[in-house]
Amino acid sequence: MGSVVGYIGDKQAQPILLNCLAKLEYRGCDSCGIAVLGGSIELYKDAVRVKELAKVAPQLGGTMGIGHTRLATHGEPSQVNAHPHLDCHGTIAVVHNGIINNFRELKRQLISEGHNFVSETDTEVMPHLIEKYYTGNLEEAVEAALRDVEGSYAMIVLRASEPKLVAASKDSPLIIGIGDRGNFIASDVPAILDYTDRVIYLEEGDIGVVTPDSIKIRKDGMEVDREEHKILWSVEEAQKAGYEHFMLKEIHEQPKVIRDTLGEYTRVAEPAVDDLAVMRAVGIESMLMLACGTSYHAALIGKYVVEELLRVPVRVEIASEFSYYVQTLAGTAAIVITQSGETADTLRAIRRLKGVGCRVVAITNVVGSAASRVADQTIYTRAGPEISVAATKSFMAQLMVLYWLAMSYSKADSRRLASLLMGLRQLPSKVQQVLDDEDKILECAKFLSRYEDVFFIGRGISFPVALEGALKLKETSYIHAEGYAAGELKHGPFALLGGDTPVIAIVARDNTYEAMLTDIKEVKARGSPVMALAEEGDEAIGELADLVITVPRVDTMFSPVVNVVALQLLAYYTAKQRGCPIDSPRNLAKSVTVE
Ligand code: AGP
Repeated sequence: MGSVVGYIGDKQAQPILLNCLAKLEYRGCDSCGIAVLGGSIELYKDAVRVKELAKVAPQLGGTMGIGHTRLATHGEPSQVNAHPHLDCHGTIAVVHNGIINNFRELKRQLISEGHNFVSETDTEVMPHLIEKYYTGNLEEAVEAALRDVEGSYAMIVLRASEPKLVAASKDSPLIIGIGDRGNFIASDVPAILDYTDRVIYLEEGDIGVVTPDSIKIRKDGMEVDREEHKILWSVEEAQKAGYEHFMLKEIHEQPKVIRDTLGEYTRVAEPAVDDLAVMRAVGIESMLMLACGTSYHAALIGKYVVEELLRVPVRVEIASEFSYYVQTLAGTAAIVITQSGETADTLRAIRRLKGVGCRVVAITNVVGSAASRVADQTIYTRAGPEISVAATKSFMAQLMVLYWLAMSYSKADSRRLASLLMGLRQLPSKVQQVLDDEDKILECAKFLSRYEDVFFIGRGISFPVALEGALKLKETSYIHAEGYAAGELKHGPFALLGGDTPVIAIVARDNTYEAMLTDIKEVKARGSPVMALAEEGDEAIGELADLVITVPRVDTMFSPVVNVVALQLLAYYTAKQRGCPIDSPRNLAKSVTVE
C-alpha cells in the first residue's frame, strides 16, 4: 500500500513531487522515492520518510517525474523494495499502489525470458512487462501489460525520451490534477491542492495519458470523456491550522461537521424525506449495513437508531467478512459506510451486493470515490478532508447521516420526533462542551498512559461506543485495548482483571444504567481501576469510579456523540503522553486499498 504522485510541466519536478508526497504521507509510509526524467531517468529512494528523503536526495534535474510512499505489503521496508521500480535497462520507471495478485507467475515467466529482478515486490513485474510489450507507444505497452495482470492498481509510468506520463487505475483511486502550465497525477486530492483544485477522477480500467498541456483518457483502447470536478476544500482545510496534530484539529472541527452535515440534509427545519428515492423504491423490510473499522462502529450505532425509529430489523456486517457466507438479501436495503470510499473490502462487498441485485446506498466523505461510483446512490458526509489516520470527524458525520435517515423514515410519534429533532440541533453545542472540558480528559489520559491493557465496556447503544473507544486508543497510543459488551466480562475476561488492567465504563442514563452500576462494582471487586464516562449530575458513578469524565446530558440516542468525542480526546492525549506518532501510527494506512 502507499501513495503515488506524478508531475509533468515546465517546473522542476523534484520539489513538486516531494511536496505532493509529503501531503500524502499521513496515509502510511515506511519508505519512499522519486524518479525524474532529465536526459535519462534518475532515481532516488530509501526506507525513510519523505522529510528525510528530501534532506538527503541529490538534485535530480527534469520537469517530469513520479513519486511514491510505500507501506510494505510484499517485502520489508528497504531501499531496494521502495518504489519507483525500473526495467532491466533503466528506461521505464513505475510507481504503484495496490497489489498484483499473480506477480509470482508473471515474475517466473519474465525471468525465464531473461529479465532480472532485484526486489521482493509485486510491483517490479510492471516495468519489465511494459518493457516486454513496448513497440514504440507507451500507453499501448501499458495496456498490453495490464491485460496480463490480476489485481488492483493506481499506477504511474514514465519512460525515458517520452514526454508523457501514463496513469492506470483499477480498484485503487487515482486522480489527474489540471494545472496551468503542467498537470499532476496522484492517488488522493490533498497531494495536489497546493497547485490546483481542478481534478478528473479516473474510473475502473481507465488509462490516462498526460503531457504538460493535454490529458487523454482511454478505456479498452478507445478515448473516453471524463468530467472535471472542482475541489471545494481549501489547502487550509487540509492543514493543521495551528493544532499540533491533524487528529486534534479534526476532533475540534466536529461541532462544525455536525452543523454542515445536518445543514446539508435537514435543510434547517425538517428531514428531507423525499431525497431517498432508492430507499422508498426498495420498500424496507430489513436493512443491511456494511463497513470496516470505525465506519463499522458507526453502523452498529445506526442499528440501534434505525431499529428504534423505523422498527425494521437491521443487520450490521463487517465488510471483510461479508463474502464468506450465504446471504438472504431479498427486500433488504443495503447501506454501505466508508469514509474514504476506497476501502477494498467494502468495495468488494458493494460489488457482491450489486451482483445479487441489491440496490446499495453508500455513505462516504469523498466525492467521486470508488464507492460513490459503484453504489446506486451516494449520501455524502460533509466532514471535509480527514488527514489523521484515526477517523474522528468522518465518524461523526456518518452518525449524523444515520440519524437523519432514521428520522426521515421514522415511525415514532410526532412528539418523540420533535424532541429528537431539537436534540439533534443542540448537538454542536453539546460537543463543544465536551471539547471545553479537555483538562479533565488530559488528567485521565495521564493516568491511562501508564498501562498496557485496557477494557472499554458498555451496554446497549454504548457497546459500539466501547468498541470505538478501544479502537481509537489502540491505534493511536499502542495500548492493547478491548471493547466489550459489559455483560460479557464475566464470561471470560474477568480472568484478566486486576490492578494492571483499568476498565473504562461508558454509562448511559437509560435502561442499561442499573446493570452498568453492577458491572462496575464487579470490576472493582476484582481490583481493576475504573474510569467512567457519565452524564453530568450522576452522583452514584462519582462514588463508584476512580476517575470520572463527565459529559453533557443528551437523549440516549445521541449519547454516542458526546461519549465518542470524549474517548477520541482520551485516546489523543494518551498517545501524546506516550510520545506516539499520532497522525500516522505504525503499520496503518488511511485508506486500506488492499483486501
Ligand atoms: C479508524 O480510525 C481507522 N483508521 C479505520 O478503522 C477505518 O475506519 C477503516 O479502515 C475503514 O475506512 P473507511 O471508512 O475509509 O472505509
